Amino acid sequence: MKMTREQRYRRIEQAEPGEIAKLEARISECPWRQRYHIQPITGLLNDPNGFAYYQGYYHLFYQWFPLGTEHGMKYWYHTRSKNLVNWENVGIGIEPDSWYDSHGAYSGSAIEKDRKLHLLYTGNTRDEAWVRHPYQCLAVMDESGSVSKRNDPVISSVPAGYTEHFRDPKVWQQGDTYYCVIGAQRTNETGCTVLYRSIDLNNWELLGEIRTRFTSFGYMWECPDYMEIDGKGVLVFSPQGLDAAGDHYQNIFQSGYLIGEPLNLQTREFNHGEFQELDRGFDFYAPQTMQGPDGRRIMVGWMGLPDLTYPTDDNGWAHCLTIPRQLTLRGGKLIQQPVAEMEQLRKQEEGTHIRATMDNESRSFAGFKGIAYELICEISNVSAEIVGIEFRASETEKTVLLYDRIQQKVILDRTMSGAELSEQNGAIRRCTLTADVIKFRLFVDSSSVEIFVNDGVEVFTSRIFPRRDSVDIRLFARGGKADFEATQWLY
Ligand code: FRU
Repeated sequence: MKMTREQRYRRIEQAEPGEIAKLEARISECPWRQRYHIQPITGLLNDPNGFAYYQGYYHLFYQWFPLGTEHGMKYWYHTRSKNLVNWENVGIGIEPDSWYDSHGAYSGSAIEKDRKLHLLYTGNTRDEAWVRHPYQCLAVMDESGSVSKRNDPVISSVPAGYTEHFRDPKVWQQGDTYYCVIGAQRTNETGCTVLYRSIDLNNWELLGEIRTRFTSFGYMWECPDYMEIDGKGVLVFSPQGLDAAGDHYQNIFQSGYLIGEPLNLQTREFNHGEFQELDRGFDFYAPQTMQGPDGRRIMVGWMGLPDLTYPTDDNGWAHCLTIPRQLTLRGGKLIQQPVAEMEQLRKQEEGTHIRATMDNESRSFAGFKGIAYELICEISNVSAEIVGIEFRASETEKTVLLYDRIQQKVILDRTMSGAELSEQNGAIRRCTLTADVIKFRLFVDSSSVEIFVNDGVEVFTSRIFPRRDSVDIRLFARGGKADFEATQWLY
């Protein structure tokens, strides 16, 4: 049953007696709870927020509505980890308890200053006419982990030329100066990003729009992120309102990036190439990056999208975050690879290894099955027309990942993946790949798969909702032969 607006905008202490316990009971019976992904204890998770390394821990917060699976009153929920793999639930990070975040502590980012972690976020408010008024706010977490908010917003108005869709500050430091980029909608209903500067994180000076070539590219850009990798500037953002075009922009909203010369902070000129999508799957949005203490650029995304329903809604929770991925630049693209620490989840050092030449057949292999695992499969000497893997499979269910050598496409098909998903989202995603050797690296969990193709040149991130007894893995080649070499590690 859909919640009313009043129900959605309740804070945790306004829950009915027993309401949270009831949610917890439903969740404990859910067959799709994840084993190694960050997921909400109750209710809905969305964007990753405040991803930072501070006092020996990676801290990762996320947008959280505790009382249901619709988008309602958002909190920041706090998790932390020493190794990017084993995450500990810390508890509420930021509560929406002030006049300037009365309708949600929306997305934002974190940076360390004076040995404190500064959390810059959007306070979402609505007036009596339900008109939105956003404020950019600051909260500070000290070494003991306690978070205190500043009394007033640090950016208290939307500059002229932009609508009330003005949010998601991402902060970084260059020399002695802090910059932040904010996702915005121009009054002509096109999306863009706006840049601010500060020397103390408290007083912010408006610099103006980041000048890209995209003057009319969707109606809103959410969750921007700017970084420099190998001397290049990279602007990541999640544009809304792009029409599907061939294999592109198949999701209701997109996430992608522009690569160019480093952003000119004086002129705000950003000379860049094409917009490229970060992900080819069904469920990826609003990613955030951070720089680790060793200099690595690490990204986490929301494994979900706004405005869609998911099967776990009936179980009282929705969505999870992706595994952390290291970003590098190669051949004019952002390459994504699971952080090396993921290997710590492998239960056996060697894994189960198989090698086979497949000739117009489909086969399973002894000991090759599971619910939560990593699978690396390399396919070479391909004369077959189609080669691939079926996983989380049984008599009646399967998720199919294949390479079509004739069309040169990687295809993910979740037509038979299990419980039904939003129909409007379709059941197939594909992208072009020209390669002789195909390497699929899969991270499968109770209700998701993340597929890194050829060492991260393409990634497919998707939720799937199979039955718990759909555990088979089958390899196949159609219309000819191919050599398969595969290793599986249970997680
Ligand atoms: C993206 C987003 C952000 C906003 C947050 C609210 O999914 O809409 O723009 O800050 O979610 O939860």
